[in-house]
Amino acid sequence: MADMNELKSQCLGCEKCALGATRTNLVFGVGNERAEVMLIGEGPGEQEDLQGIPFVGRAGKLLDDMLEMIDLDRTKVYIANIVKCRPPKNRDPLPEEKDACRGWLKEQIKLVNPKIIICLGRIAATEIIDSEFKITRQHGEWLDVDGIRCTAIYHPAALLRDEHKRPETFADLREIRAEIKRICDRTYD
Ligand code: URA
Repeated sequence: MADMNELKSQCLGCEKCALGATRTNLVFGVGNERAEVMLIGEGPGEQEDLQGIPFVGRAGKLLDDMLEMIDLDRTKVYIANIVKCRPPKNRDPLPEEKDACRGWLKEQIKLVNPKIIICLGRIAATEIIDSEFKITRQHGEWLDVDGIRCTAIYHPAALLRDEHKRPETFADLREIRAEIKRICDRTYD
């Protein structure tokens, strides 16, 4: 199996969908490749596309604060997205773009081998957990998918748009910390 650097090199040359032609940078993933906790977002926005790093815009700053609230940071988790190239004008990724990108994320998950996956928002939850996942009703629920404990919380960009969602998300984050303490060995060392 390729390691993460090899996988990224292969992904750099990906032409499985049209997004590679319009992006500035590939946004492959960031963080601890041996993390027990993996976070999965939707796809790069403008800042991510410019810098080649996931979650570096306004939503990313909020994500860092959310991680800090549960005593985590980017050295303790691995962060990736459903699609690795920015969809023009931040539109939702198309089904064929998600399909084309699925293999890269699958390999990343295999390499990291996390105990817990946290989906950030509806698009990640419907890809990873259940195509019928309803984020407003089901955020904070835990499900086992291929032996990995999975949950979803509101996307940080949704929390920027609607502050009323924040208390529910803080409650979800507290449950996430408890679950990490329960099933992970190294994360809170
Ligand atoms: N939103 C996402 O879903 N992913 C990013 O990397 C940045 C913003």
